[in-house]
Amino acid sequence: MYLNPSARSWTAPAATSDGDPRAVHRELPGFAPTPLIEVPDLAKELGVRRLLVKDEHLRAGLPSFKILGAAWAIFKGLGGTTSLKDLKVDPETTLVSATAGNHGRAVAYMAKLLNLKAHIFIPAGTAPARIEAIRGEGAKVDVVDGDYQQAVERATQRASENPKALLAADVGDSMTPIWATQGYRTILHEIDEQLTEAPDLVVVPVGAGAFASAVVQHYRSDGARPKILTVEPDSAACLLKSLQAGEPVNVPGPHPSKMAGLNAGDVDTHAWPYLKNGVDAAVTVTDEETDEAMRDLADKDIVAGECGAASLAGVRAFREHLTKDSIVVLISTEGVHGISR
Ligand SMILES: Cc1ncc(COP(=O)(O)O)c(C=O)c1O
Repeated sequence: MYLNPSARSWTAPAATSDGDPRAVHRELPGFAPTPLIEVPDLAKELGVRRLLVKDEHLRAGLPSFKILGAAWAIFKGLGGTTSLKDLKVDPETTLVSATAGNHGRAVAYMAKLLNLKAHIFIPAGTAPARIEAIRGEGAKVDVVDGDYQQAVERATQRASENPKALLAADVGDSMTPIWATQGYRTILHEIDEQLTEAPDLVVVPVGAGAFASAVVQHYRSDGARPKILTVEPDSAACLLKSLQAGEPVNVPGPHPSKMAGLNAGDVDTHAWPYLKNGVDAAVTVTDEETDEAMRDLADKDIVAGECGAASLAGVRAFREHLTKDSIVVLISTEGVHGISR
């Protein structure tokens, strides 16, 4: 476990405003705020006052939160200013991205929505259901003989070779990861509106860290300042290791965890300054711990996939730091694959 006692008092530099992602999100077919579900039994188990799960298993018809980042990043990347329906795009445009599953599906979905093409690169070993789900949105999918980072490199190269391509990455040096991070904040605005009191702890699953950096930007500014706990697979703990080292550390693959969206070997460069300063605690969990958390959430009728259930596994590993007055929010970032719409 990593602890940073000064993180809670750190203030993040004011986020740049590039428009209103929520307005674009509201234009997505079937968009609605996701539920924040109170689970008294888990609060009792952990000895806290309240425990709530922000349930992203169905977000605008897709099985994870990733559409929030992809929609806003693609809208901005295509030069959008007012609304999705007013976008003027060359129909020959191809959206190109790498993915561990969810981001690529969201990119493919946006391509379908906007009548564009999508070409998605995915690491070897990705579950066939995730690949088929992306193909099911009409995208071309290439399985790369390597890990997530190698898929990112292939996508970047392919996009640079095609003048009609937009690289819709959620990591790396382009603007799209910054816009994706802005898009993720819709979740946090919703939590503010749904939870009438300030949380004490927010628990976030981490892959390359873009989503966690949105959480840090949100809670290290003017409003509530809960502790932020990050959770990673023990086999891909690039954030934990980087926080311990005080600088970005690569965790070489293979990354075999079933928490596919969390299988990243590097912390994203945009996210790192926020995570380094604003994360209070970082833990790792095993696939077995996450499996148990999935089953326990299913018992409460909450559909959480491996990455989503990692939050519950993570807060269990953090138990000794909880108090009886704590209000805990677990962000469950995905549903069970194969179950979406
Ligand atoms: C379901 C799910 N949860 C969490 C994450 C982690 O997001 P990030 O890579 O921004 O840390 C991902 C990334 O793909 C994901 O798919």
